[in-house]
Amino acid sequence: MEKVSVVGLGLMGTALAEAFLRKPLTVMVWNRTPSRCNPLGAQGARIASTVKAAVSASEAVIVCVSNYAAADELLRVREVSAALNGKTLIQLSSGTPKEARDTAAWARETGAQYLDGAILAYPSHIGSATAQILISGSPEVFRQHKELLEILGTPAYVGLNPGAAAALDCAGLISTMTSMIGLIHGIALCESESVETEHLVSMVNAFLPTRAELNREMAERIRAGKFDDPQAPLKTWAGVARHFVHIAQENHLAKDVPSFIAGLLDRALAEGLGEQEISSLVKIIRPDEMDKPNRSESV
Ligand SMILES: NC(=O)c1ccc[n+]([C@@H]2O[C@H](COP(=O)([O-])OP(=O)(O)OC[C@H]3O[C@@H](n4cnc5c(N)ncnc54)[C@H](OP(=O)(O)O)[C@@H]3O)[C@@H](O)[C@H]2O)c1
Repeated sequence: MEKVSVVGLGLMGTALAEAFLRKPLTVMVWNRTPSRCNPLGAQGARIASTVKAAVSASEAVIVCVSNYAAADELLRVREVSAALNGKTLIQLSSGTPKEARDTAAWARETGAQYLDGAILAYPSHIGSATAQILISGSPEVFRQHKELLEILGTPAYVGLNPGAAAALDCAGLISTMTSMIGLIHGIALCESESVETEHLVSMVNAFLPTRAELNREMAERIRAGKFDDPQAPLKTWAGVARHFVHIAQENHLAKDVPSFIAGLLDRALAEGLGEQEISSLVKIIRPDEMDKPNRSESV
C-alpha cells in the first residue's frame, strides 16, 4: 500500500490527512502538539513520535504548518535532513516565492525531490475537485505525485520555478482582495445615499464578462509594453478618482480606498503617464521599468 506522511495537523493539515485516510493509503502523521494526532489515529493513521520518524516512514512527505519558518524549525535539523534523502517533500505551507526557492535549493542539497504548493481552498473543500492546489517545481516530480495530489483536490502545475505557486497565490489574492475592498467601499457609498445595494451588485455582476475580456487585454498590454492607444487615458481615470475622494469627504466615509486609488494615479501623472492607457500603472509598481519605453522591444 502506498504511504504518505503529513507533518502539521492544524485545520488544513488535518483535512489533508483525513482525505488520504479515506483512500487505501498508509498515512503517517506528526504534529507539534501531540493531542491533535489522536482523532486521526482513531481513523487509522499511524502516529509518528518524531518528525524524523514521519519523514522516514513514507516516500512522499507533505508539510502543512503555519509558515516556512515553522517548517524550517522542523525540517532543517540534521537527522530530519538526512532522513529526507531520496524522499519527495511537498511543501503546502503558505509563504513567499523566495522562501519556496530557498527551500527547493535546501531540499536539493539534502537529496530530496521538492514540490512547492499553494492551497486555494478551505479545509472543508479538501478531498473534492473544488480544492485547487497550485504546484510548482520539477514537472517530472509533479507527474510522479499527481495521483496523490488528486486525492486532495485539483492540482494545477504552474511552472518549474519553485516560487511560481506562491507568486500566483499572492497575485490572485491581491487581485481578489482589492476588488472585494472596493465593493465594500461601494456598498457603504450606496448606503450613504440610500441607494439599494442590490443595484450595485447587479451592475458589478453584469460587468463581469467584460471584466474578463479586459483582464486579458490588460495582461497582453503589460506583456507587450503597449500603452499608447487608450480609449480613456490615465489622466481621465485620475480625474474620476479625485471624485471618489470628494464623495468620501462629502458623505463622511473613510477616505482610505479612494485616496489609495487617487494617490497611485496621481503618481502616474507625475511620472508623465497621463496620456497612456491605465495598465501603464505597472510602471509605477515596478519603477525600475520606467526607463524602458517598450518591453517587447527590449527582449
Ligand atoms: N485554513 C485554511 O483555510 C487555509 C487555506 C489555504 C492555505 N492554508 C495554509 O495552510 C497552512 C496551515 O494552516 P492551518 O489552517 O492548518 O493553520 P492552523 O490551524 O493554525 O495550524 C497551524 C499548524 O502549524 C503548526 N505549527 C505552527 N508553528 C509551529 C512550529 N514553530 N513548530 C511546529 N509546528 C508549528 C501547528 O502546530 P500546533 O498544533 O502544535 O500548534 C499546527 O499544526 C498555513 O500556511 C495556511 O496559510 C490554510
